[in-house]
Amino acid sequence: MADKLSPDVEACLLAHLNSDGEVQDSRSYASSLGVSHKELEDVIKSLSAFRIVESTDVTKETWVVTEEAKGYVANGSPEAQLVAAIPLEGASKDVLKEKLGSIFDIGMKTAAKNKWIGFEKGNKDLVLRKVDNINDDLQEQLKRLESGEAVSDKVIDDLKRRKLIMKEKSIWYALKKGPQFVAKRKKMATDVTQEHLRSGDWKEIEFKDYNFGAQGQPIAIGYAQPLLEVREAIENIFLQMGFSEMPTNNFAESSFWNFDALFQPQQHPARDSHDTFFLEAPAATKQLPEDYLEKVKEVHKSGGYGSKGYGYDWKREEAEKNLLRTHTTAVSTRMLYKLAQEKPFAPKRYYSIDRVFRNEAVDRTHLAEFHQIEGLICDYGLTLGDLIGVLEDFFSSLGMSKLRFKPAYNPYTEPSMEIFSYHDGLKKWVEVGNSGMFRPEMLLPMGLPEGVNVIAWGLSLERPTMILYGIDNIRDLFGPKVDFNLIKSNPLCRLGL
Ligand code: PHE
Repeated sequence: MADKLSPDVEACLLAHLNSDGEVQDSRSYASSLGVSHKELEDVIKSLSAFRIVESTDVTKETWVVTEEAKGYVANGSPEAQLVAAIPLEGASKDVLKEKLGSIFDIGMKTAAKNKWIGFEKGNKDLVLRKVDNINDDLQEQLKRLESGEAVSDKVIDDLKRRKLIMKEKSIWYALKKGPQFVAKRKKMATDVTQEHLRSGDWKEIEFKDYNFGAQGQPIAIGYAQPLLEVREAIENIFLQMGFSEMPTNNFAESSFWNFDALFQPQQHPARDSHDTFFLEAPAATKQLPEDYLEKVKEVHKSGGYGSKGYGYDWKREEAEKNLLRTHTTAVSTRMLYKLAQEKPFAPKRYYSIDRVFRNEAVDRTHLAEFHQIEGLICDYGLTLGDLIGVLEDFFSSLGMSKLRFKPAYNPYTEPSMEIFSYHDGLKKWVEVGNSGMFRPEMLLPMGLPEGVNVIAWGLSLERPTMILYGIDNIRDLFGPKVDFNLIKSNPLCRLGL
């Protein structure tokens, strides 16, 4: 039924162009057909694609009435509604307000200005009607504007001020016959169906050409998340350099392994709850290696192995506090302690890549949890020169061959160096990591032989990944705001690696 009532827009348009040659304004043409402009627009687009019609966009800013004003077109202006609501004997403000709602206040102003209403002497509450008939100019003007008639600039200004009209951009089309114009478009078949074969009409019908230029369906495919991708690349570099992986499967750690064993004093600011997440339950660990703990305590309190120590009252309760590890150096420390128990000593190269936690303010480059990459080499007679050489090997495999080192401080390394790399894209030196040689106060209490040194370095996984993928907000890379499309599309070529 609906089909019969609605006109065949395409047929009408083609017939019109065939006889009149053009349509000047698609909007008025649509309303003459009794269809929406959108419906006509779809037909125009389809016909234009085949160059059956040629369309030119016409863009114009027009004034349209606001929702509020639509009400006034229907029921009269607020001032007119007010006047109409006042009976011969007048009415109290409260009664009128009750009747008209928000219209009352708006209407009062203009009605008073026009002297349509007034008050009885001595009674400001009784509103009186002063005129019998009024001309509702506002309603008149709004109606004219709605039907597209011309109104003066002064009226426009007035309506604008009262926020009754607003500018709206509208697009319509001017149409004429295209180079492929036909009065009636043949429906072309897209597929040979069973019916076509049965009836034999496939011999007569025209088939649509294949569009070999059309884009195919997107393939349901996924790639590794950038962090995993870079992690794997870095893992391969470590493996090629003869490193083996450390077990990092303990996010929860004790302060002892995270700080004390690293010769980090118990008053150190990093051990504050502002920087570290402490666990509430279980708040303290029960298992600590007693012999080793005694040695750690001694070295903090009074030194040894050629060191003066820190000279403070070391507290076991502080070392027992559980936390979310703040660096993977806690893992390295456990591994070195384990290595020290194996006799005879054998040199080792270890690496780890896993998550760490810091109680920090989150911003575009910092998250409260991120991933650390850490490498260490443990052997007799290692020097700072060895560390620099290994770092140059490691970072140049990552595509960062220009390195600089800056003296730094870590409680557990001496000397310590921050690592900077020249970034060709950013044209500046950027900090890429931290490194050093573990202090004797850390290594000797573990039982590692004299003369054994450990060179080590650490960096975040997020930093190089953001540089490689050109991501400038860490929250686009990791966490709840990550767009899943990140794993649907993968750059064929990255900036390095
Ligand atoms: N643990 C250091 C950090 O969190 C990195 C580091 C590792 C520094 C090993 C020196 C040696 O930044």
